[in-house]
Amino acid sequence: MNWYGDNINHIWLPYTQMQTAPPPLAVVGAQGCHIQLSDGRRLVDGIASWWTACHGYRHPHIEKSVIKQLETLPHVMFGGLVHEPALRLAGRLVKIAPAGLSRVFFSDSGSVAVEVALKMALQYWQNKRQPNRNRFLCFRHGYHGDTTGAMSVSDPESMHKAFRSYSMKQYVVDIPSEEYGFAELDSLLEGVHKNLAAIIVEPLVQCAGGMKFHSSDVLAEIFRLSRKYDILFIADEIATGFGRTGLMFACNEAGISPDILCIGKALTSGTLSLAATLATEGIFREFLSDDPEFAFMHGPTYMANPLACAAAHASLDLFEREPRLEQVEHIEAQLREALVPCRAMKGVKDVRIKGAIGAVELEHMDKERLRARFIEEGVWLRPLENVIYIMPPFVISSDDLKKLTDAAVKVVGEMAITQA
Ligand SMILES: Cc1ncc(COP(=O)(O)O)c(C=O)c1O
Repeated sequence: MNWYGDNINHIWLPYTQMQTAPPPLAVVGAQGCHIQLSDGRRLVDGIASWWTACHGYRHPHIEKSVIKQLETLPHVMFGGLVHEPALRLAGRLVKIAPAGLSRVFFSDSGSVAVEVALKMALQYWQNKRQPNRNRFLCFRHGYHGDTTGAMSVSDPESMHKAFRSYSMKQYVVDIPSEEYGFAELDSLLEGVHKNLAAIIVEPLVQCAGGMKFHSSDVLAEIFRLSRKYDILFIADEIATGFGRTGLMFACNEAGISPDILCIGKALTSGTLSLAATLATEGIFREFLSDDPEFAFMHGPTYMANPLACAAAHASLDLFEREPRLEQVEHIEAQLREALVPCRAMKGVKDVRIKGAIGAVELEHMDKERLRARFIEEGVWLRPLENVIYIMPPFVISSDDLKKLTDAAVKVVGEMAITQA
């Protein structure tokens, strides 16, 4: 019996077959880039708590900012009331976001930020008296969250299969490549654009769908098609936002400004749950009317939570004061040097590096065995399907990053021997 005793029988874990999964690890603390387990082991974190903790855990500046906020206003409802941390954060986000996004709608998780984006797009067209524009175009291998609307624009063949019959039907296509697929996408859009509210995409990297990359040229071309057919463009930067792909936002690399932008995850550097959906003034204006029915009907209870806003302010301070994007460049260079040799290994299908993301795709893998091996190696890496990936905090030292890449190379090498 572990220290958590019988209480483990009252918990239901995410994405887990509770009958067969190994017992979860008990965590008692986290500091910098390390996770402290109750049995004394300390793991180097290669996932940054689902890609949130960009400044590492317990950064003193973020801690201080949250504690200070706790002493004045931990929470207040956002309906009819506003507060300084949220108003100032909205202003700061608008300043750093791709140009043209001027309105910020706060929420409490990435999935909800996506729901808000979808609802905004739907009601935007409804308010413009074009209610037939009520479908979305989305991409295979995409992942936008686990709530119903977000599931409907995620890859229908992957993790949400069980809900397929319930999910709304959308247009799902492959992300085109430079060589192939744009003519097909263009002719599909020509046929269906009058029924489309928006295109939704994870810019540059489809993360949870297997760390699949596309180029900034491809992203720019998808955006261009959205302009050609007057379809709203939603960029879901919940995973890629705040430096993960090398620039503050992945859209920056393609030089595009979406109509709607979803952010979350690293917004508070993994401290508290906060997300936001940003929209252009043009979209916002379509909700203005003498008619109350034109108002946007959404409002999560904990939206714009002041503690979470304080954490986000501190996180943005750190981006301003410390060389985070340079650190991402160093991580990218080190990942490239350490992981690219895996390409020659048996059983390796592909190795991909972009910013602070390194992915080794295998022909197949025993996910649970690999997860256990990584823990034995003293690192926290949790492969997705057949992809081992490293997405560490940006403040990781080169020694700790080496521990992660050494473990990845070693374990991939062991698999190659087993298959020989
Ligand atoms: C691109 C993207 N969108 C949305 C989500 C959902 O975010 P949350 O888990 O905060 O609901 C995720 C989560 O991994 C994501 O990667």
